[in-house]
Amino acid sequence: MCDEWMPRLELPIDIDLFRQLPRNAAYKYEYFDRRAWLSPRPRYYHALLDLPCWIETLSERTRRKATLRAVRESDWEGLAPLFAASFQRQQPFCGLDKERALEATRKSLQHTRTGGDGPWIESASFVAVDEQRDDEIGALFTTLLPDADPSGWNSYHWEEPPPPDALARRLGRPHLTWIFVAPLAAGNGIGTSLLGAAVRALLDHGYTELASTFLNGNDSSMLWHWRNGFRLLAHPGSYRRRWDESE
Ligand SMILES: CC(C)(COP(=O)(O)OP(=O)(O)OC[C@H]1O[C@@H](n2cnc3c(N)ncnc32)[C@H](O)[C@@H]1OP(=O)(O)O)[C@@H](O)C(=O)NCCC(=O)NCCS
Repeated sequence: MCDEWMPRLELPIDIDLFRQLPRNAAYKYEYFDRRAWLSPRPRYYHALLDLPCWIETLSERTRRKATLRAVRESDWEGLAPLFAASFQRQQPFCGLDKERALEATRKSLQHTRTGGDGPWIESASFVAVDEQRDDEIGALFTTLLPDADPSGWNSYHWEEPPPPDALARRLGRPHLTWIFVAPLAAGNGIGTSLLGAAVRALLDHGYTELASTFLNGNDSSMLWHWRNGFRLLAHPGSYRRRWDESE
């Protein structure tokens, strides 16, 4: 989904230097033709949140005052710089220059808006606005994926387009497709508040689970999911999972 935004690098360095290169989990490292070749190899982990359970234990203590509002038409264009800034140290966008990062985040938002990540759940997507400065400091977007085994290989896209009233009929499983908070506002509970608003909206729709995906190597996202009660799912290639299925 994201590797198109991760550049392949060719570095003319000697083998000793190659061995010293710091490794990033989302890249494959090879050395031939007297060059280091760094190719994108993003690996995704999936996690699941039990919504009724989470809402009972939710602690929404924000250290920075923010108001949450619905997504507006102007946000699709206006949120791209905030999105790019939030990912300035994270794959898949951190290897891009400013202009390309903006293009990538703009296109990613458009992809979400136009159903490329499954139907966009407008009522469970929110923007966080700083109360004092009245500017956007975070956003969360949810989409609807098939209600298939969330540990399976092919559960993260629809084989057939879902019916237009999928949400009203409570079909599928909601997925947290994007969450980002401005670097200067991060660590203040804004991401958790956005999640709280989405969870309440999804419970109102009658859903009981929220799936999510994060890129291997994005430690802050992994910790954020874990601290907020997401359960890490088995990798589709899990041996134990295969043994369980064959019994
Ligand atoms: C991940 C992100 C959305 C979290 O938003 P946030 O508002 O900073 O999160 P919160 O303040 O609600 O943090 C909740 C928990 O997440 C964990 N966490 C958040 N940021 C963290 C960081 N940089 N490093 C380690 N843990 C972090 C903490 O454990 C925190 O709980 P604690 O303070 O009780 O220990 C934000 O850091 C971000 O925008 N990251 C870049 C974009 C991204 O990676 N998005 C996720 C993939 S789609």
